[in-house]
Amino acid sequence: MNSCKKIALIGCGRISRRHVEAIQTNPSLKITVVCDIDAGKAEKLGRELGVPYITDYRQLSGVDVAAVLTPSGMHPKHAAEIAEQTDTPYVLSEKPISLTVREALELFSRIEKAGKTLLPVYQNRYNPLVAMIKELIDSGRLGKIYMFNCNVLWNRNDDYFKIDWHGTREFDGGVLYTQASHYVDMLHFFFGEVDQHRGIGGNLRGLDVFDSVAANMSFTNGVVGSLNTTVSVYEKNYLTEFTLIAEHGTIRLTGTNLNKIDFWNVEGMQRPDMDFTIDHVYGKGHDTLYRYIANDRFEMFPSKEDVLSGVRLMEMLSY
Ligand SMILES: NC(=O)c1ccc[n+]([C@@H]2O[C@H](COP(=O)([O-])OP(=O)(O)OC[C@H]3O[C@@H](n4cnc5c(N)ncnc54)[C@H](O)[C@@H]3O)[C@@H](O)[C@H]2O)c1
Repeated sequence: MNSCKKIALIGCGRISRRHVEAIQTNPSLKITVVCDIDAGKAEKLGRELGVPYITDYRQLSGVDVAAVLTPSGMHPKHAAEIAEQTDTPYVLSEKPISLTVREALELFSRIEKAGKTLLPVYQNRYNPLVAMIKELIDSGRLGKIYMFNCNVLWNRNDDYFKIDWHGTREFDGGVLYTQASHYVDMLHFFFGEVDQHRGIGGNLRGLDVFDSVAANMSFTNGVVGSLNTTVSVYEKNYLTEFTLIAEHGTIRLTGTNLNKIDFWNVEGMQRPDMDFTIDHVYGKGHDTLYRYIANDRFEMFPSKEDVLSGVRLMEMLSY
């Protein structure tokens, strides 16, 4: 039986609510302190949760996990400083882990030197349909994997890009980082490291970053495929789709967040009845990842190699 783990939330913005809900579903976890440089936000969340707040994460002490929920481009600095300057053993970082390979490498090296562990948040890995496909690929039941096609066709309206760091080169990075990074991670989860890639980005909306990217790639295991992603769909999110072409089967997942099996033709295997509804814009993956933390299943988080290959791909296709 594991003892109750103490969690600190660093950054009390929008995604912090999802972390609070996910942590609260698990009786083996408790939030003991919250932190934001905006004292008003920290104080408000601290009051709601009945815990103290701080405005400088370097004051953290005695927590098991610090969850870094600050703007994307700040993750490497914040995660590394928490690892180095506090006694926190596990530093969880929201996606994307970093906007550049240089910073990602430096982050891993600083975390390792400090003797701490980085827990990257890519909760789409824990989507039951994604986990099922991963198992099928790894079990060999699908035979050789030939090809995939992944489309992430979403909407972020102009008001979204008026919010402070959104759409900036320094802190956001663009569609591959902020919206599609879960699917970049999923491709690594399924196929390993990227070998070659070619991509073209579009920014007709006049942002500092690409709002649309069309990319083709191959993996070191020979799988080829394409990832097309945009935040410029008219009015609302349209869909996410993933098609897998393999020696012994063809599968297409779809829905706003890959929550439905749209096509299934797999040798010797009936279509599983696993469709689910998305009752939360972020999905339920955060609940699962906090369950893994509660149960010391740290191996369920993405590997350093997957994270670095993903950041390499995102960086090369985004700037
Ligand atoms: N996993 C997911 O599905 C998912 C979904 C949404 C957002 N995110 C990620 O979560 C991160 C935060 O997104 P958000 O929408 O909550 O942003 P946000 O702007 O609403 O919140 C960020 C907060 O960090 C605070 N902050 C900045 N510097 C700080 C510092 N030095 N110390 C403490 N707090 C600091 C800001 O004051 C702000 O309150 C982003 O990287 C985003 O990509 C992940």
